[in-house]
Amino acid sequence: MKPVPANQANIELAAELLRHGKLVAIPTETVYGLGADAKNIEAVKNVFAAKGRPNDHPLIVHIADVADLPNWAIDISPAAYKLTETYWPGPLTLVLKKRPDVPYEVTGGQETIALRVPNHPVALAVLKAFGGGIAAPSANRFCRISPTQASHVEEELGDKVDMILDGGACAVGLESTIVDLSGDKPRLLRPGQINKTEIEGLLQAELDIPINIDRVLAPGMHEIHYAPVTTTILCTQAELEIILQGNAFQHQQKMGVLWFGNAVESELFEQNIAMPETINEYAHLLYSKLRELDHAGLDLILVEQPPQTEEWRGINDRLTKAAKPFNTDFNGTLFEAKDVRWILRGFWPFSLFSD
Ligand code: TXA
Ligand code: MG
Repeated sequence: MKPVPANQANIELAAELLRHGKLVAIPTETVYGLGADAKNIEAVKNVFAAKGRPNDHPLIVHIADVADLPNWAIDISPAAYKLTETYWPGPLTLVLKKRPDVPYEVTGGQETIALRVPNHPVALAVLKAFGGGIAAPSANRFCRISPTQASHVEEELGDKVDMILDGGACAVGLESTIVDLSGDKPRLLRPGQINKTEIEGLLQAELDIPINIDRVLAPGMHEIHYAPVTTTILCTQAELEIILQGNAFQHQQKMGVLWFGNAVESELFEQNIAMPETINEYAHLLYSKLRELDHAGLDLILVEQPPQTEEWRGINDRLTKAAKPFNTDFNGTLFEAKDVRWILRGFWPFSLFSD
């Protein structure tokens, strides 16, 4: 399925397809979504099947306007409306208690529902033409890099969607921030462009961050997500320099690097992508650049760790899920700094590593 231009006729056709339970990939300002009628259980099941996503992973329901919120959620607090007034339409998803008539298929069996009004003219036009809620996870296969261009959707799910609306490159490029307001305390479930500090300022309340299983403490348990197929390693600038000292890789691995570009120069890197230092520009490019490196026939992708500040939390979150940290082996075992030399030497063959 080739992407089609998002003109009026195709937007109306998209709405018609949704009414018939079909799957339509739509652009949003964050990433492309794989859309289905949120009230059509068969269509929703097809979304899970197309992505290869487990059924208990809930979907986000996209609505045209904040006025539709009570059609999906109950117990909507003043805090929720504070957030919607400021950020909708925009890259913020709210988790609220669901209305009893919302199918459990959409919410992964949960009593809560994730909702957002996207800030993209094509997504909004489709929502208005359709007249209902559109359940739409990112339009990638499960665990892979989210699509930020129509061609990425074609690559990921081309044979599984009924239409791909081309709305150009997604402006934000990172999935929405998710705030859970269904419990006693607001929680940040997924960091994004709208950051924790901003939300806390607006709500005058602290956002809890649920503790994830740390992959260092619990090897192999950490979620891999947003990941290139090529092995990807997250490194600090100092670690990149260690690698560039020359004898780190003896086996002529083809390496590509995504970095801030001014650290070190080297011919060791077959692909060399310099990223902008401003957060929004970085986010806008990240997934398409990772995809580009993933298609370059490399053995290894190295990504320079961005600053570890609150603003970069969303980016760092995605990168730690896409990449392995520098000083672990591929089963996630943490090594002492002195062992790093061996890990570098021992990427392949394994025997070198054990001697
Ligand atoms: O930017 C975005 O949010 C994009 C665009 C298409 O809108 N969508 C997106 O959807 O990223 P997806 O399915 O890839 O991610 C949805 C996230 C998942 O992490 C899921 O666990 C969480 O939302 N989620 C959905 N419903 C939830 C609920 N009831 N409680 C907690 N988390 C929920
Ligand atoms: Mg996703």
